[in-house]
Amino acid sequence: MSESLSQDYLLYAPHPPASTLAQWLEESNRITRQILGHISAADQIVPQLNILNPPLWELGHLTWFHEFWVHRDGQESKPSFMKNADYLFNSSEMAHQDRWSTPMPSLDNLLEYNYSVVSSTQDLLRTPIDNKAAYFIQLAILHQDMHNEAFAYMWQTMGRSIPFTPFTSTSKFEAKARDWIHFPKSTMQAGSEQGSGFIFDNEKWAHSNDLPAFDIASTPVTNGEYLEFLQSPSNLGQSMPVAPPSHWKKEGDIWLERIFNEWLPLSSASALRHISYLDAQRFCEYHQVRLPNEHELSLLMSQKQGVWQSSNLWEWTSSTFTPFPGFTADPYIDYSQPWFDGSYQVLKGGSLFTPDRLKRVAFRNFYQAHRSDHFCGFRTCLL
Ligand SMILES: [Fe+2]
Repeated sequence: MSESLSQDYLLYAPHPPASTLAQWLEESNRITRQILGHISAADQIVPQLNILNPPLWELGHLTWFHEFWVHRDGQESKPSFMKNADYLFNSSEMAHQDRWSTPMPSLDNLLEYNYSVVSSTQDLLRTPIDNKAAYFIQLAILHQDMHNEAFAYMWQTMGRSIPFTPFTSTSKFEAKARDWIHFPKSTMQAGSEQGSGFIFDNEKWAHSNDLPAFDIASTPVTNGEYLEFLQSPSNLGQSMPVAPPSHWKKEGDIWLERIFNEWLPLSSASALRHISYLDAQRFCEYHQVRLPNEHELSLLMSQKQGVWQSSNLWEWTSSTFTPFPGFTADPYIDYSQPWFDGSYQVLKGGSLFTPDRLKRVAFRNFYQAHRSDHFCGFRTCLL
């Protein structure tokens, strides 16, 4: 690792005990191996789309990432367990379209590579570890968690069966009456401060934000509300009406929603999901409401559950993904920095496929405005 890179990560303490990291790693890797351990030859093939990755490439990549940061000190000059690993699996180097045309090692070889890397880390976690090792081990685990979730929404996109058991037991959103929660004008703290444990570079650093008063919905937008909008004369009368989401279809008079490989009657009280930021905005225009910004949604999500209702989805915000004052890239420089180009929106929260360790209120997820394949929804604020 070059010495000129920011060493801020040494300030990301305290870290969980090694036994907790060992348990997280075991859990995250068990899920990956459950998804890919017995994947059929047919399921190894996915269409070449910007929103997808070939599953075997993704397995190689998440293992390479772990090995590179935890066991190779972020340096290509240090050897890998896998031949050509840097060429094949560095996402910053291997162009997205080339991931389909480049010959990959076999599934057995990739699983063996994964076993070697993860076993080495489990050995390391049986010895005293310093802040630096604890940081990179967490980075590798959380990166793997994100790829596990990406497998889940890739499987949803492809209409395959649910790939692993959700972390949250209920997939049902219990309809409750919507309240508009009033927050008076305040100064709130955004970002994360030193000493608050593991953070990502885009949370640097804590800063105060003057927030005008606002009113935010206690509940997310539901399927029923969205259907009413889609069918409204106002939408249908547009030259480019908003189309139903691609996982919905109508049979006779009945609307159905596809959840993985199952078509189920659309539940009008359930939280609406797989809607792009652009379509969420069209809904807001129709209802004369707006999306919350990331600070408003963070403030809501830092309140006790019961005051507000989780959607079990990543919720879109009106905030474009931009650096906070004081941002510097951490050693994995491509985590945030390349995506500050104005085409990504911040999302907050977490889905059924997000482990609790990634559901910190300060965590900033980000996706391009047109995407709807990930587990996303939204709630609104009064104008
Ligand atoms: Fe990655």
